Amino acid sequence: MIRRVSADPILIRRGKAGDLAQVEKFTHNTFSWGDYLPGRWTRWVKDQRGILLVATCDSQVVGTIHVRNLEHREAWLEGVRVRPDFRQRGVASQLVAAAHAGAKEMGARVIRLETGAHNFAAQRTFEKFGYRRVVEYVGFEGNARGGDLKQVRRAKIADTKACWELWEHSQTRRSTKTVVPAVFGWRWWELTRARLEFDLRGGRVWRAPHAFMVLRDMDDGLDVILLVGAKRDALQLLDAARVLAAQMTKTQVFWLAPKTLASFRRAEAAGYAVDEQGMLIYACTL
Ligand SMILES: CC(C)(COP(=O)(O)OP(=O)(O)OC[C@H]1O[C@@H](n2cnc3c(N)ncnc32)[C@H](O)[C@@H]1OP(=O)(O)O)[C@@H](O)C(=O)NCCC(=O)NCCS
Repeated sequence: MIRRVSADPILIRRGKAGDLAQVEKFTHNTFSWGDYLPGRWTRWVKDQRGILLVATCDSQVVGTIHVRNLEHREAWLEGVRVRPDFRQRGVASQLVAAAHAGAKEMGARVIRLETGAHNFAAQRTFEKFGYRRVVEYVGFEGNARGGDLKQVRRAKIADTKACWELWEHSQTRRSTKTVVPAVFGWRWWELTRARLEFDLRGGRVWRAPHAFMVLRDMDDGLDVILLVGAKRDALQLLDAARVLAAQMTKTQVFWLAPKTLASFRRAEAAGYAVDEQGMLIYACTL
């Protein structure tokens, strides 16, 4: 790694639309698959529910961070990037400290983020700030297929009590520590009864006799973001998700599950393959 030595101080300020050209230069290939950040930049600049910050050195943008305010006094941290030649000089630490201050001002009590199990630099950076691992998720992929839904139906608002009881007594609740993927965007939040009701009203919950699942419609596929209940019924739901994906003209289902032996066994029995290992969800009390 090239270590740039500069006497200029690192300054933190709000990100602007005009920063994108510089940001793009060091974020287009952050990960093996590229990076989503340049595509979000313009939206983040305008978003009133979030704070977009950049670190500059000698007027050049050398780092970025975005913190988003969710309901229930939760915040989500994302888009932490430092230009390669400025890494391990405390730039991310300054950005995280400033983002925390912003999240506190917005009234957040807890802040969470997702990072890869192999991203040791990120883990080191966040653990230093008191972030603790809450749960590790894994992604399984199943192909869409034709067929019928068998005993699976869309849940109604009258199913709220039954679904909530299934959740309260579930292994999923224990293994996720109640932190589940959110219905909108790539973020995680606490499952509350109000949020489950919101999913029910939105028609995103599907039921088998002793299980339920919550679906998230993403551009590139259909996500199962929560699967709760007895094994046989859960398998029926995973199968139904593939049928529903085909009905929605999607080619794939992506099941986001806590990384447990039970998840791997269910995925195998339902014909799903591991797609993405090791998504670590971290939380920090503000
Ligand atoms: C992760 C990342 C943001 C860290 O940025 P940074 O500016 O280098 O971080 P800092 O200099 O503030 O370092 C914070 C701590 O982590 C440690 N650290 C950072 N990178 C490290 C590495 N590659 N190896 C070991 N320790 C590392 C630092 O030593 C420091 O700990 P210390 O104070 O005990 O010395 C940067 O590596 C990056 O942009 N990576 C690519 C994008 C990414 O993975 N973002 C996070 C996605 S969730």
